Amino acid sequence: MLKATLKKLIPGSVWMRLQRIKATHKLAGYSRTQNTRFLKFSANPWNKPNQEELRGQIIYYIHRIEKGLTHGSDFRPGFGQNALQSLHDLLNQWHKAHYPTTDTTYQAAFSIVMAYIEKHQQEHQPLPEFLNALFPVQELEKTEANNTIAGVKTITTREKRHNQDKNFKELFEGRTSIRQFAKEPVDLSTVNQAIELSMKTPSVCNRQSYRVTLVSNPDLIGRILTVQGGWRGYAYPPVLAIITSDVRSFIYMEEHNEPYVDGGIFTMSFLLSLEYEGLAACPLNLMCSDANAAKIRKLASIPDYEVLITCVAIGHFQNQTLVPKSFRYSGSSITRIIR
Ligand SMILES: Cc1cc2nc3c(=O)[nH]c(=O)nc-3n(C[C@H](O)[C@H](O)[C@H](O)COP(=O)(O)O)c2cc1C
Repeated sequence: MLKATLKKLIPGSVWMRLQRIKATHKLAGYSRTQNTRFLKFSANPWNKPNQEELRGQIIYYIHRIEKGLTHGSDFRPGFGQNALQSLHDLLNQWHKAHYPTTDTTYQAAFSIVMAYIEKHQQEHQPLPEFLNALFPVQELEKTEANNTIAGVKTITTREKRHNQDKNFKELFEGRTSIRQFAKEPVDLSTVNQAIELSMKTPSVCNRQSYRVTLVSNPDLIGRILTVQGGWRGYAYPPVLAIITSDVRSFIYMEEHNEPYVDGGIFTMSFLLSLEYEGLAACPLNLMCSDANAAKIRKLASIPDYEVLITCVAIGHFQNQTLVPKSFRYSGSSITRIIR
């Protein structure tokens, strides 16, 4: 009532300015709450590590080592000293805290070290000296860890040939991030078909704010991925999709995270649609600093009213490609039921 009366009395332009000030305060409050939670609970040195934080860090290093193991002719023997040192330190913290050694993450850490050793043996390369100091091989052999959880697996073109005949479970379970592509160029009309299919993605109030920028210029792809930073050690993909969300689709301040939610869901649909079309792909983070985000925006002509969600590297499958196993936790381990 009071609001309606004030609105009638106050000139329109002043009313709008007041609305904007109110919205600014609201947004600042929401950001504060989010920032406080992140600062308080994320796996950072100022927080005392608990089991979940250790898990997050251990899996991060496992993944880094898995990626290093996917290289064939360009394999770098003795790679990953920093990652293996960090893994060693984290496992020590795990022991000190008496967390269970039957835990999947803990077992995966041992498994990745075994895979590292195996890869050096396969490539007829000596193990680096630092490895034995961190993880004495005799000790490793005594552990009862499941040594098949982490490492690499092979993906072949043969298994992708009939993707369009697969049922959802087969297609979904078969999708894997691919970082090494065949030389063959990608027909953009196939990518466009994947985008068409991805339009079935649900979005808040059906706003469909997601946007896709397709980059096929090799020089530009290289420049964008150099700034992105998560594609080191691999040849550039034939096509790079940049997923963004248009904030102009949103109205209320409470919706400020929705572009990211809708953009994220769209990205998953897109990955599955590319898989259906028989194309290989890898999502790539766009969690960059403001300075790097500005560089990517400029390179890819992303307008200011769009927020960066993620990139997707796209190409054709090679006959055989090594990829990280990227083990998964069980669904029950991440589910809470409230009756
Ligand atoms: C949002 C997002 C960002 C990612 N960023 C990168 C990246 O920068 N570099 C990379 O090699 N992989 C990246 N990945 C791929 C993940 O490493 C991969 O999805 C994960 O290990 C699970 O493996 P899978 O996709 O093969 O099932 C990203 C994945 C997602 C969903």
